[in-house]
Amino acid sequence: MTSQSPATNPAAGSAKSMDAIMALCKRRGFVYQASEIYGGINGFWDYGPLGSQLKKNLRDAWWQDMVLRPCWGKTGPGGREVRCVPVETCIIQHPKVWAASGHVGGFNDPMMDCKESKRRYRADHLRYVKTTDPSEGRMFAFVEGDADTFEEALKRLGKYVKRTLGEGDLEIITDAKPDGQFLARVVGPHAKEAGTLTEPRAFNLMFKTYVGATATDDDVAYLRPETAQGVFVQFKNVVDTTRVKVPFGIGNVGKSFRNEVTPRNFTFRSREFEQMELEFFCHPDESMEWFTFWREFRMAWWESLGLAGENLRLYDTPKKDLAHYSQAGSDVEYRFPFTYPGFGELEGVAHRGNFDLTQHQQHSGAKMEYNDTERGELLPNGQRRGERYLPHCIEPAAGLDRGVLAVLCEAYTKDESRPSPEFMKIHPRLAPIKAAVFPLVAKDGMPEIAHKLHDELLRRFWREGLVESDDKQTIGKRYARMDEAGCPYCFTIDSDTLKDQTVTVRDRDTGGQQRIAISHAAAFLSDKLGL
Ligand code: GAP
Repeated sequence: MTSQSPATNPAAGSAKSMDAIMALCKRRGFVYQASEIYGGINGFWDYGPLGSQLKKNLRDAWWQDMVLRPCWGKTGPGGREVRCVPVETCIIQHPKVWAASGHVGGFNDPMMDCKESKRRYRADHLRYVKTTDPSEGRMFAFVEGDADTFEEALKRLGKYVKRTLGEGDLEIITDAKPDGQFLARVVGPHAKEAGTLTEPRAFNLMFKTYVGATATDDDVAYLRPETAQGVFVQFKNVVDTTRVKVPFGIGNVGKSFRNEVTPRNFTFRSREFEQMELEFFCHPDESMEWFTFWREFRMAWWESLGLAGENLRLYDTPKKDLAHYSQAGSDVEYRFPFTYPGFGELEGVAHRGNFDLTQHQQHSGAKMEYNDTERGELLPNGQRRGERYLPHCIEPAAGLDRGVLAVLCEAYTKDESRPSPEFMKIHPRLAPIKAAVFPLVAKDGMPEIAHKLHDELLRRFWREGLVESDDKQTIGKRYARMDEAGCPYCFTIDSDTLKDQTVTVRDRDTGGQQRIAISHAAAFLSDKLGL
C-alpha cells in the first residue's frame, strides 16, 4: 500500500472553480444537461448554440491538421510525407468485432456498491484516509479528485478519533486491495456505517441493444465503445480501393458510448461522447520512430490551440502498465480544475503493434496482410519482390468532448476590474463567434453601417464560425456578453465612423481598442484568425 500526504492529494483546492465554469457554460449556451426538464440523465450532455459551434471548430481543426493536411505539412521520420485518409464507420458493428477486439470479454471496470447510500463507485477511483495510529483502525473512503468527499472523510475521521488531526497524523491509501476484511473497516464516501461497501465486481461498459424486431439473445449488438475498431475492420478495403501506401493513417471521428460506472466531472467522463482517432499504419521496424513523431505532434497540436504551459503535459505510460501487445504509450494530459494539482487524460497515443489486425484476421478469416512493393528482395528487372506483413499501428486517440472541456477550463478567466468579471479567452481558431459588430447607439445612421459591415464579415467568415451583430443595451454590456462568449474581436461604429469611415476594434483579451479603416475590417480579422 502506498500513502500520500493530504498536501499532494488531488482532492485539494484549485485556482478555477468548476461550479463557476459550469454556470457560465449554462448561462451562455455552451453546455446544457441532457433532458434537463425531466431532471437530467446522468452522464449525458447537450451542447447549446455556442458549445456546438466550439465543438465543430475543434473537430474541424483536428480534421484539417490530421487528415486534410496532416501535421501542418511537416514530414515524418526519414523526411517521409505524412499521408492520411478519412473513413466514417458505423456505431453498430457486427458483434464479432467486439469479441475480436477484446471488448466483450475484457472491457470491464471494477465497480463497488454502497448498500447504505445506494451509490456506485469505481474501485480504482476510491481512496481511503486513516490515522497513522494502528489502534484507530477505521478508514474513511473518498473519491479521488473530489474535494467534497475528501473533506467529509477528514471531518468524520476527526469525529471518530475525537481529536484535531494534523497533517502528519494522516495516511491515505491509494492502492488498496479492497477485500471483505479491508472493507469491514471502511465507511463509504456517502455512508455513516462501516462495512457497507461491496467488494469490486467487473462491469462491462458496452451498451447493449438489439438489431431487428425479435429482440432475442441472437440479435444482441453493441454501441461502439471506440471509433478505432471501425478503421481496423475496413483496413483492407481502404488499401484496395485507394492509392495509399504504408506508412499512412486512417482517421475516424464520431460518437462512442460507454456505460461508465460513475460518470462525473461535467463532460469529462460521459456515457455518450465523441472521439477523434487516427490509426497510423507503418512497417514494424519504423514503428517506434512513428510513435515518437505522433507523440510529439499531438502535444504540439494541443499547445497550438492555447492549452500551452504548465497545464499541459506529456505523460509516458510506465512499461509495467502497458498492454501486453504494446511497446509504448503516452498520454497528453491537461490539468483540469477537478484534477488539480494533478492531470487528467485528454488523448492517448498508443503503440498497438499489430494486435488489432491480427485479432480481426483470426476472428474473421479475412487476410489483413499488406504487400509492400517498396520492400523485399531486389529482382534482376530492377523491381522489388514485395514484403508481406501486418503493419504496426500508432494510434493518437483524442476525446473531442474532453478537448472542448479543456478549452473551456483554460479559457475561463476572472478579472474583477473588467465590465465582465468573467471572460473566456478561447483561441481565435476555436472561438464560436469570430467577431461582433455594434452600432454605438441605434440612431444617426450607425445601425445601417453596422448592418453593412456585419453582412460583409458574415459573407467572408461564415465557414469559420458565427459573426454577430447587436444594437441592444449599453456598449459595455454588449462587450461583456461577447467576452463571456469568447468572441475575440468587436467592431464598433460610432460618430467618428460617419466622418472618417473608421471603426473601433476591441480586443477581448486586453480590452484595448484601436481604430482601423472600415474597409480594412475583413482583412484585419482574417489576419488575426490566421487565415
Ligand atoms: N481507441 C483507443 C481508445 O478509445 P481511450 O483512452 O479509451 O482509448 C481515447 O479513449 C480518448 O477518448 C480519451 O483520451 C478521452 O479523451 C476520450 N474518452 C474516453 N472515455 C471517455 C468518456 N467516458 N467520456 C469522455 N471522453 C472519453
